[in-house]
Amino acid sequence: MPRTTIIDCDPGTDDAIALWLALGSPELDVKLITVAGGNVGLDRTTANARAVVGLAGKAVPIVAGAERSLMAPFRAETAVHGNDGLGGVMLPEGPPLAPGIAADAIRDLLRASPPASVTVIGLGPVTNLALAFAAEPALVDRVQDLVLMSGAWSEGNITPAAEFNAWNDPEALAILLNLGLKVAIATLDLTFQARVTPAVIEALAAREGGACWRAALAILRALPMSRRMNGQGFPLHDPCAIAWVIAPHLFGVKDAAAEVDCTPGPSRGRTVIDRWNRLGRPANLALMETLDAPRFFDLLAARIAPLP
Ligand code: RIB
Ligand code: CA
Repeated sequence: MPRTTIIDCDPGTDDAIALWLALGSPELDVKLITVAGGNVGLDRTTANARAVVGLAGKAVPIVAGAERSLMAPFRAETAVHGNDGLGGVMLPEGPPLAPGIAADAIRDLLRASPPASVTVIGLGPVTNLALAFAAEPALVDRVQDLVLMSGAWSEGNITPAAEFNAWNDPEALAILLNLGLKVAIATLDLTFQARVTPAVIEALAAREGGACWRAALAILRALPMSRRMNGQGFPLHDPCAIAWVIAPHLFGVKDAAAEVDCTPGPSRGRTVIDRWNRLGRPANLALMETLDAPRFFDLLAARIAPLP
């Protein structure tokens, strides 16, 4: 049975590819896409979500949400995603937004679903998800899996200590890590294994596909190479979270306990992940540690290329 799925995102170049991966995968029945600010402002992230879903020809309601975090404005990452949020790749305008506010739409869908039946995937700052569960905590029991691209057990990518999504709303992430769920998390340490190099892009480009696939390839070609990969590649973050749901066999996962540093100062937003159970605390993460990258990229092509 396809999984009833909610995706919260901040498109965002890698969010766009993640959405196409999800929309092209029969394992997922994407019932709702909610949008926050993050990579770029909410006006652009919502326009990008609409365009991505429209290009795929899917009738999934898209609902706008947080334009700032619980405690502060979001900080954008235009150096990676461009001012438009899609690396300058132009897509036709998508369908209009559905009415309402993201956190309410998330709660409405959860409330109407059976227990343990909804897969909730967070690909950006998790403000919308935190607002939903903080307002109605009992809805946690409708969740089958909560899956995030967030955090790092080693160094960050927006500060030395913190990963971009976690840093942009650490209080929201802390709320999700304290719901009593074991959150499946793809940290930077995992997504850095999804290393996109010019050779990877050319191998993917050998596969024919529709407009979504051509747009995904254009986005990959537009993304800047990472200094942390000596300019030879860059990590593909958000599709890793989708891939865990549809192809968990590509991942090595272990339980771990984690907390988020919400203090002001240089460590704010750091995810302190106890990979070796040094503190003996109950696990609140299903921590993705390893990825079969070649088969991950094969999956991307197999699922996105057939889209319109
Ligand atoms: O740190 C990477 C994450 O931040 C990804 O989700 C990317 O889209 C940005 O939101
Ligand atoms: Ca994102």
